Amino acid sequence: MIIVITGAGSGLGRELAKVYAEGNDLILIGRSLEKLEETKREIEGAKSINCISCDITNPQSVENLKEKIKHIHNFVDILINNAGVGIFGPIEDMEYKDIDTVIDTNVKGTIYVTKVLMPMIKEKIMNIISTAGLRGKVNESVYCASKFAIRGFSESLLKELEGRIKVVAVYMGGMDTPFWNNTDHVKDKSRFKSPREVALKIKELDDGRCEIVI
Ligand SMILES: NC(=O)c1ccc[n+]([C@@H]2O[C@H](COP(=O)([O-])OP(=O)(O)OC[C@H]3O[C@@H](n4cnc5c(N)ncnc54)[C@H](OP(=O)(O)O)[C@@H]3O)[C@@H](O)[C@H]2O)c1
Repeated sequence: MIIVITGAGSGLGRELAKVYAEGNDLILIGRSLEKLEETKREIEGAKSINCISCDITNPQSVENLKEKIKHIHNFVDILINNAGVGIFGPIEDMEYKDIDTVIDTNVKGTIYVTKVLMPMIKEKIMNIISTAGLRGKVNESVYCASKFAIRGFSESLLKELEGRIKVVAVYMGGMDTPFWNNTDHVKDKSRFKSPREVALKIKELDDGRCEIVI
């Protein structure tokens, strides 16, 4: 299978790449090629691994991504929309640029990549959301808004693509990843799951259902 994973240079994306590697052709997407190459070095058992730099918030970069993928493969079996960012705080303190970054990455980035690759996708779209797409949380209003948006996007695609392409929405709680590096929003990460554990659980539950809640 040919699997495209966004945000594969760290955290959950990196672990998903490792967990879904066996016998498959992987295309790893992120802005930093260095991080993607590091992921590539950690992967075992893949048929092939290609790393492509793309800023998913930039339409031209996403169009270029499609062309680069077309040079490698004629189609894609699975798209995993995993890339995402979190910026937290009381709404009155959120800066415009931070609101834009969260919405542009989590909402528009996911939509752009899906729209552009849609004609090439054969089997499945998996959207990594969060429990922040199920419930509102204190000081996470913008992040939750972005994840609720992708929940709506996923549910709509599920209906729009019924009988043609599977759509699976994944909702998980906190994971100990670089996602939290630039924030003190969470003080104690000791109860967070490891991204490896979550990636393994996703693979285990990825059996045709349209929703995975971890
Ligand atoms: N960590 C948690 O507690 C948690 C919980 C629930 C859900 N999630 C969700 O899980 C997903 C993965 O997060 P994570 O925890 O693994 O965080 P992470 O380690 O920070 O990974 C996010 C990845 O997204 C990529 N990315 C960010 N902006 C991008 C852009 N404009 N274009 C392309 N790639 C971009 C980053 O790579 P580059 O910087 O190289 O672009 C990075 O590798 C996110 O959607 C997040 O919202 C996380």
